[in-house]
Amino acid sequence: MLDDPRAIAHLDSRGMLALVGRFGPMVADGWAAARDAPAPAGRISAIVICGMGGSGIGGDLLRAALAPASPIPVLVNKSDRLPAFVGSSTLVVACSYSGNTEETLAAYDAAGRAGAAVAAITSGGALATRARERGDAVVTVPTGLPPRSALPLLLMPMLRIAAKMRLIELADADVERTAATLGRLADEWGPARPLRENHAKGLAQTLHGARPVIYAASPLTEPVALRWKTQLNENSKVLAWCGAFPELGHNDVVGWDGAGDAASYHVVILRDEGDGAADARRVAVTRDGILGRARGCEEVWSAGTGPLARMLSLVLLGDFVSCYLAGLRGVDPTPVEAIDRLKARLAGA
Ligand code: PA5
Repeated sequence: MLDDPRAIAHLDSRGMLALVGRFGPMVADGWAAARDAPAPAGRISAIVICGMGGSGIGGDLLRAALAPASPIPVLVNKSDRLPAFVGSSTLVVACSYSGNTEETLAAYDAAGRAGAAVAAITSGGALATRARERGDAVVTVPTGLPPRSALPLLLMPMLRIAAKMRLIELADADVERTAATLGRLADEWGPARPLRENHAKGLAQTLHGARPVIYAASPLTEPVALRWKTQLNENSKVLAWCGAFPELGHNDVVGWDGAGDAASYHVVILRDEGDGAADARRVAVTRDGILGRARGCEEVWSAGTGPLARMLSLVLLGDFVSCYLAGLRGVDPTPVEAIDRLKARLAGA
């Protein structure tokens, strides 16, 4: 089925796979969108990214990208309220693709009341309107996409603002190289490449019928494991689990030990060339001792030069896998009716 373009086009009627294939160009577009975004004027001692779902995951990726070098903490806030420390030396970035997400709007309003420096990243909606009325910095990205497919458009402006604040070294050339790597990988994993030589299609076939568990071997890939989980939820319409070493060695392993249905789970471990010797040892020992009870377990490796490209290469792989798994399950990856229903009911209540 995965090598039949007509069957794929029929199921993926709204073109999610084509959007995944545009990940590389969207990285460049997202970077360009924030060319004129100002860095906050005063002294900033912490960054809080507010966003939910497909708009919040960019904050998780930003936090992981900044962690090795940033002198100030980055916190991702996925709720409608802010931590009490937020004040005039905090930069709050409200990120909502639609601009209409209740929790993000509430957190954005709270940031204004707290006197924080505020920036908004959105395609429009109430967030764009409020930000313009208040004179906050706004980065506007193209409208009309499923929020999760716009991840590069939402993440790259945050990275550009962070680069302007000298929290990360990232120049135009790095971004161009990253976009090119992702473009090459999109060809390797795209629908035109047959199953026998397509890693993403192969992984989708492996996961088909299993309960997917995605583990990150080290902190850089921790948010990527979450992205795989959420893309498997929203695109493939399956339940999925994620976690990260070394923490999973302090809890999940007991579950694996005791679970009567361990053989229904398939584990994917996200690996990166930056994983240290201790990370590799934890993975090896846990695989041998515990994960042998799963239906299967494999390690997938990042690709590209530099932490950003490597991190995003694994995001892209998971995005493709989730679409192919949707195909194998006979579901359209784009609609998220359960989310729409929930939002409508909450708005009406
Ligand atoms: O993928 C999705 O559609 C959701 O996870 C949304 O991103 C989430 O509901 C938040 O909406 P928005 O991204 O418009 O703020």
